[in-house]
Amino acid sequence: MVQALLPALRAIAEPTRLRILWLCAHGELSVSELVQILGQSQPRISRHLKLLSEAGLLERFREGSWVFHRIAREGLGADVAGQLLGLIDEGDPDIEMDTTRLAAVKSERAKSAADYFRRNAADWDRIRSMHVDDQDVEAALCALFPPDGVNNLLDIGTGTGRMLELFADRIESGHGIDLSRDMLAVARANLENAGVQHCSVRHGDLYQLPYPPHSFDAVTIHQVLHFMDEPGRALAEAVRVLRPGGILLLVDFAPHDREEFRTEYSHRRLGFSESEVAIWFEATGLKLQETRHLPGASLTVSIWCGNLPKEIPADTQSSADDNKRLLDA
Ligand SMILES: C[S@@+](CC[C@H](N)C(=O)[O-])C[C@H]1O[C@@H](n2cnc3c(N)ncnc32)[C@H](O)[C@@H]1O
Repeated sequence: MVQALLPALRAIAEPTRLRILWLCAHGELSVSELVQILGQSQPRISRHLKLLSEAGLLERFREGSWVFHRIAREGLGADVAGQLLGLIDEGDPDIEMDTTRLAAVKSERAKSAADYFRRNAADWDRIRSMHVDDQDVEAALCALFPPDGVNNLLDIGTGTGRMLELFADRIESGHGIDLSRDMLAVARANLENAGVQHCSVRHGDLYQLPYPPHSFDAVTIHQVLHFMDEPGRALAEAVRVLRPGGILLLVDFAPHDREEFRTEYSHRRLGFSESEVAIWFEATGLKLQETRHLPGASLTVSIWCGNLPKEIPADTQSSADDNKRLLDA
């Protein structure tokens, strides 16, 4: 055990590498983003990243021409990284500067995605069906949704509100949340035109959902996570608001190599593998019920259907009254 610790301890005994560890604990980052934040040359940063990855402190994964780095989630390296992160002083001047620059990188990215949705809000329903037949995906979702319906549904990153419309006749109430006011305007018009009065949408950030824990019987996340720089954190926040026994439907692309989607459609991730989603599910306590893959002409859409077990610790439950009050607000 003592010997096994040495590679991680040796790798981290350097100021820039400690800063990289801190940064990668706050997002999945590419080399060029780390270069931008740390202001050091690419070969230098790449060398640091290689050492940290080899020592098991970071995980690296390639997607097309991009390589992402994130804090290790498993193994001794993950334990060491977790301990060290707890010791880093957030008030340290270098860490403060890195945190500010990381926030700037993230907000630049979020702005380009927001611009994309602003430009395409009116046309979104057509764009969504460009690569895979919507009807097939929706039929599969309907087959997975509880046949007798549920009390309430939250659609995260609701866009034009299509999921709310789709499940409207199987829910007592539906709530959609989205960061784009332009998308929300289209969603409101769509719901009104469809006569769906028991569903509403509101502005909000999916990383900080404005609901107490365990508020919803069902949560949908349809073609949203590939825009996120921390998809695992986004999923964990979704699970936080799911009730014990509740169902979560996650829809996204299977891994693909359409690199141009990053620039043309502002995608950050090129789909998700079964193993990556399995790790998120396990970490959040979701039990995977079923996975479906729907191949289209050039892309495959995957649906992951999970449930939260019925029994959860009593101290994490909030009262139904509290939930209702907040949802009505
Ligand atoms: C590709 S669209 C999908 C919309 C809808 N779910 C559908 O499939 O038609 C992704 C949506 O996620 C929203 N979004 C992106 N980042 C978000 C965030 N941080 N919080 C909430 N919504 C976000 C975008 O505004 C956009 O409407």
